[in-house]
Amino acid sequence: MDAFETVIFEKKDDIAHITLNRPKVLNVYNIQMRDELYQILGAIKDDSEVRVVILKGAGDKAFCAGADLSEFLTAPSPTIARQVRWERDVWGLFLSLPQPVIAALHGYVLGDGIEMALCCDLRIASQDAQFGTPEVGLGIIPAAGATQTLPRTVGRSKALEMLFTGHRLNAEEAYRTGLVNRVVSRDKLLPTVEGIARKILSYNQTAVKSAKQAITRGLDLTLNEGLELEKRLASSLLSLRCFN
Ligand code: COA
Repeated sequence: MDAFETVIFEKKDDIAHITLNRPKVLNVYNIQMRDELYQILGAIKDDSEVRVVILKGAGDKAFCAGADLSEFLTAPSPTIARQVRWERDVWGLFLSLPQPVIAALHGYVLGDGIEMALCCDLRIASQDAQFGTPEVGLGIIPAAGATQTLPRTVGRSKALEMLFTGHRLNAEEAYRTGLVNRVVSRDKLLPTVEGIARKILSYNQTAVKSAKQAITRGLDLTLNEGLELEKRLASSLLSLRCFN
């Protein structure tokens, strides 16, 4: 795979590490980052050697402070800037990954940053993390899934409060609302995330992927349909284990 400019991609011991790498501008998401992530996520999706994915941000100040507003200002209009972003469904690709994806979140986690984190399966935050959706204040709304993923994660009222008022959650509030799984000190962030990744690696990978599928696909189904899905996945896992 080519070298990337806005993202670092490394594969180590069955773990894919993706690092958003524009630290001077708080890792804001631009068109080039969109294209590079699209290429990387597509490769990970089909790579049976990758069993867990870790997503993090470079630098001290931010996981990602949102969309690159300088691109909004240079585009003929904000609508065209948005249109360009939709040409590649990075968010759909994130959500379709069969492997568990863990986000390591520090500093500013705003706009596209929180939306990317919401596409991950587990979110671990450091104490300095701040979470927000500033879009409505800019006259737009989130368009990388947050109007759907945020209320499903923190509940309708908290999601609306964040959108209507731009209220940023600190790490403790994020933990209380269920936005993040754990809060740790900054120096423990990556060790904690890597520890979780290693724990997942120690389990049967088909069982891990089936559990992810059952829960993530099941949330879009009725309870009865979800139970059917669980039954199908459980019996196919059982038959695989009987033959191995
Ligand atoms: N797009 C483009 N550049 C951005 C950016 C964005 N969304 N957010 C920050 N930057 C750049 C700044 O312009 C600055 O660059 P410079 O050093 O060349 O001037 C650099 O990142 C550092 O940001 P700065 O504002 O100096 O840091 P801060 O700690 O004082 O404030 C924020 C941090 C996140 C509160 C502030 O940068 C901010 O509000 N950014 C916009 C966030 C936003 O609205 N995102 C959603 C867009 S949909």
